Amino acid sequence: MGRSLCSTTRCAICAALTAAAIAIGLIFILSYVYWWPTDNSTDKDGDMDNSVDPPSPEQPCPSGDFHTGYIATGSTVAVNSDVVAYLSRPVGTSCKGAVLIFHDIYGYGLPANQQVADDLAQNGYVAILPDLFRGNPWQPDMYEYVEWKTSHSQERIDGDIDATVSFIRSALSVDNLAVVGFCWGGLQSVFASARLSIDAAVAFYGVGITPDDLISMNKPTLLLHGQNDTIISVTDVELLESTLHNANRLLQSVDDLETGALRGPPSYVKIFEDVGHSFAHRGDMDDPVIRQASEEAFNDMYRWISRFTPG
Ligand SMILES: *[C@@H]1O[C@H](CO)[C@@H](O)[C@H](O)[C@H]1NC(C)=O
Repeated sequence: MGRSLCSTTRCAICAALTAAAIAIGLIFILSYVYWWPTDNSTDKDGDMDNSVDPPSPEQPCPSGDFHTGYIATGSTVAVNSDVVAYLSRPVGTSCKGAVLIFHDIYGYGLPANQQVADDLAQNGYVAILPDLFRGNPWQPDMYEYVEWKTSHSQERIDGDIDATVSFIRSALSVDNLAVVGFCWGGLQSVFASARLSIDAAVAFYGVGITPDDLISMNKPTLLLHGQNDTIISVTDVELLESTLHNANRLLQSVDDLETGALRGPPSYVKIFEDVGHSFAHRGDMDDPVIRQASEEAFNDMYRWISRFTPG
């Protein structure tokens, strides 16, 4: 009797200890998955220059917040024998068209890039994010940046983009097509605006855009930038803006309807105050300034795409 009482007590203590251990373990895992990646405790100034990982020619794009906890809902498809893509389709809503996404240097597997595709799908677009680095995205610990970058020739990338466009037109049978790119991919959006038969282009903080690239654009193109971007200075963005203004191709706002007076396909350059590089898709969303700018930027993207895609 005493023995059984004792063992019951021991069992209760044992169960309590086990429960406590499980709870602590769960808290640890959850905090790792959900909180650790977004806790930029070293970077509360909101400019997203992670102080551990400052931008430099060797480390060109601050690592920022990767949204590591995001669970993607799309699937992987083969564009051809060399190129795979992440594909996200609208569910329970009619399809408004296709959006081809150009990822940043961290590549198509980055949850933050796939999250953009899923968001587009939720808003009625078939979104496709091809792996333009063919399994070899930028990895700061493994590569020297310039060497890595030159290993991916623009010619090869253009070929993979063309293959993706053919895939969209044939396998997905969608006519309306817009492109959206981030950082490295923002420059690809500007190239696509010059080169591809598309309806509209959006470039989020495109890196390395020259005035000549802008003059070559053939499609309505929206350029979104952060005022406090340390990769692309606001002076550089203002130069892009004045280039388009002087070419008489700049609208006054995302919704400005006075396209008749323009000499060429319309464009608009928007600069978001108090936010840094990659604020829209990889910013610290716990920061209300960054969150608000991100929401506004994606809203602008949707307005631009729906404005310039037919039907
Ligand atoms: C962004 O840059 C402006 C102009 O230099 C400055 O006034 C502002 O404080 C900066 N904001 C942040 C969040 O660093």
